Amino acid sequence: MNEATAARPSSEGEAFEPRIVAFVCNWCTYTGADLAGTSRIQMAPNVRIVRLPCTGRIDPLFVVKAFERGADGVIVSGCHPGDCHYTAGNYHARRRFAVFRETLSFLGIDLDRLTFSWVSASEGRKWSEIVNETTARVRELGPFTSYRDLVDEG
Ligand code: FES
Repeated sequence: MNEATAARPSSEGEAFEPRIVAFVCNWCTYTGADLAGTSRIQMAPNVRIVRLPCTGRIDPLFVVKAFERGADGVIVSGCHPGDCHYTAGNYHARRRFAVFRETLSFLGIDLDRLTFSWVSASEGRKWSEIVNETTARVRELGPFTSYRDLVDEG
């Protein structure tokens, strides 16, 4: 584990700032997030975006890896149902994550730390709300050290 991926300690006196990774599709949510930025909508600076062609390309193991590498929360977001630019990628993603939730839970991942949403290219405001809500919720939950400790023990 290098410095960039190491779990960030939250020592006494230092406020905990959650690290959140967002896996988003290029065509809707990434553009919506870009719109939020260019519209100068205020939002928490805690989210790091990983842009993929489509939510159908998001392997659930990406989510596991993100938590393993130090994320305290993860967002998965793409086009609204019916709007996927590859026709059905978001339906595949929704089905995949519905099935995978049990496995994530079995692996020790707290599902409250995972947000799944649909954000279109015109929904910059919605994106900022999701970012703010997820950041506030994960901040409340605290650092996700329990999972990283589990991984380190394994
Ligand atoms: Fe956005 Fe498929 S292109 S979910």
